[in-house]
Order: sequence, then C-alpha cells, then structure tokens
Amino acid sequence: MNVLGIETSCDETAAAVVKDGKIVLSNIISSTLSLHRPYGGVIPEIAARGQLEAIDFVVKEALSQAKVNLKNIDLIALTSQPGLPGALLVGRAFAKALSFALNLPLLEVNHILAHVYAPFLEVKSKSLAPKFPLVGLVVSGGHTSLFYFKSFREFELLGQTRDDAAGEAFDKVAKILGLGYPGGPQIDRLAKKNKNVNLRFNCARLPDSFDFSFSGIKTAVLYFVQDWQSRKGRKKLPLKLQVEIAKAFQDSVVDIIIAKSIAACKNKEVNNLVVGGGVAANSLLRKKMLAMALDEKIKAYFADQSFCMDNAAMVAGLGYQMRRG
Ligand code: KG4
Ligand code: ZN
Repeated sequence: MNVLGIETSCDETAAAVVKDGKIVLSNIISSTLSLHRPYGGVIPEIAARGQLEAIDFVVKEALSQAKVNLKNIDLIALTSQPGLPGALLVGRAFAKALSFALNLPLLEVNHILAHVYAPFLEVKSKSLAPKFPLVGLVVSGGHTSLFYFKSFREFELLGQTRDDAAGEAFDKVAKILGLGYPGGPQIDRLAKKNKNVNLRFNCARLPDSFDFSFSGIKTAVLYFVQDWQSRKGRKKLPLKLQVEIAKAFQDSVVDIIIAKSIAACKNKEVNNLVVGGGVAANSLLRKKMLAMALDEKIKAYFADQSFCMDNAAMVAGLGYQMRRG
C-alpha cells in the first residue's frame, strides 16, 4: 500500500510516499527556516505563507521522486494536530481537496505520535523492528513527552514537560550564548570541543513523576551569562566559555531525559524504548541512551537522523498502521 504523507505543522512543508508503512520511496522537505533565523524563533505568519508557496511543488516532487503518480496512491495521511493553526490549515486544505478530487481516503495523524513512529521507518526486517509494548519518547522543539504504548492505537501519556520543551530549551540557551537558530545542532557541535568541564547546571528532577521541566536550567544559564557580562563589562562570550556552558547544559538535559525514560521502562516493565523528534538527533543523547539502556537490558531505537526532524514519512508510516488497525 502506498501512502502519501503531508506534514505542515510548523516551518517545514513536507510530503513523502511510503510503501507498506516502512519503505520510504520519497521524503521531501522544504523549510522557511532561513526566514525565521533573524527572529531567533518561528514566526507563525511567515511559516503559514511558506506552506502555501511550497505545498504544491513539494507534493509533486514527492510523487516524482517516488516514481509514482496519484493513481498509485492508496491513502493520504495528514498531520492534523498539534501545530501552528495557519500552517496546519494549508496542509489540511490541500489534502482534503486532493482526497475529494481523487476519491482517496484521508486519514488524520497526530504529529507527536508520528515522531514515535519514525524509528519504525526503513527497518530492514521484522526482527530488527521495535516490539510492543514499548515506551515512546518524543523530544522536539515543541514537545517532550513519554508514552506507554500497547499498540499504536492503545497508549497512555506518562509524563510531559511542564514548561519548555527540550528543543525549545536548546534553542533558548543557544540564543543566550549568541549562537544561531535552531540552537540544538549548534550546542551539540560546541559541546564536543571540551570533554572536561567543571561547570554544572541542574535540571529540575521532579521526583516521583515522569514530567520534565527545562525552564529552570535555561534561566540558570541566563543568570550565569548576565553575571559574567556585567563583571566583564562586555556582551560577547569567548568561545571557551560558550563551549563550557553548552556542554554543562547539554549534559544535564541529556541525563534527565535518559533517567526518566529508563525509569518509565522499568515502571511499565518493558524492554523496548523508541525515541523520536528533533532532539533525538543529539549525538550525546543517542550515544549515552543506547549504552545506559543496554546496561538495564532495554533496547533503545532511535529514529534515523533523516527522520528525527519534522518530516512526512513518519506521518505516512503511522497513517498506514492506523489504517491497518
Ligand atoms: O521535531 P522538530 O523538527 O520540530 C518540532 O516538532 O518541534 O524539532 C526541532 C528541534 C529544535 O528545537 C532543534 O534545536 C532541535 O530539534 N534539534 C536538536 C538537534 N537537532 C535539532 N537538539 C539537540 N541536538 C541536536 N543535534
Ligand atoms: Zn515535530
């Protein structure tokens, strides 16, 4: 079964064709990221306008790279929520019109759950795929959530962020450090430059809960930087200090994400953990989570780097599974 996925929840306009829920025939992503950069975050109106300009081309390109035409599509899967209302509306209008004109079924997919599906894409054999029941972790720019899944239809939210999402904290700390947007990849890159850092920032632990909180650590970094700036009488941080702060911040965020995810697996007595969302691209999180989970006899599955950030392949894949029931 060929599913056309359409994803327009934020600043990426994405379309993909996925066969049988796992073989990605095409995965096209167009982004207005460079237009948002000067503002240090996504501007909803610019994102929505970008969606409108790109959607037609992106869908055509997805079909062309997959070497299929609309007659070979069996289902359209669309991100219906959550996301920026104006941006979502563009995808919805486009997908509905296509579905109506071609008499194709249209299935609405939740964007956060689609991130959980990303580690199931392009898995070569059934034995290598994650097994239910499992814990799903979504760490992105908009969400940080832990779920318990019996199947893709039967799941329970175990915990989520009470304030900033993990990616949002990366972006805000990068801004405080004078780095560009999006901040996650920049902090990831900088933090690798020094392995021995004494500086420490702490994340709120919120014991006895699977919830997260990242706004405290972001504020701790802000106060630390403001204090340094007023003592030195200058704004620009030297590279050495940027590196130290980036590493101390990233270490603490990664540690709490890993600790809560493993605790959730133990609590639910499952030994499969899947991780998706933009922050799942973080090199330290990938390396440390795989190792620490293994110590606890838990198999952690990360989305391939190409499916961590927002994309339509994960939407098409989840659409296929939901259709199958
Ligand atoms: O999943 P995504 O594309 O969008 C949302 O659904 O929110 O995630 C984007 C987020 C941004 O906050 C970005 O800074 C973060 O993912 N990100 C990273 C890395 N690459 C992207 N965070 C940490 N380390 C990375 N390597
Ligand atoms: Zn996302």
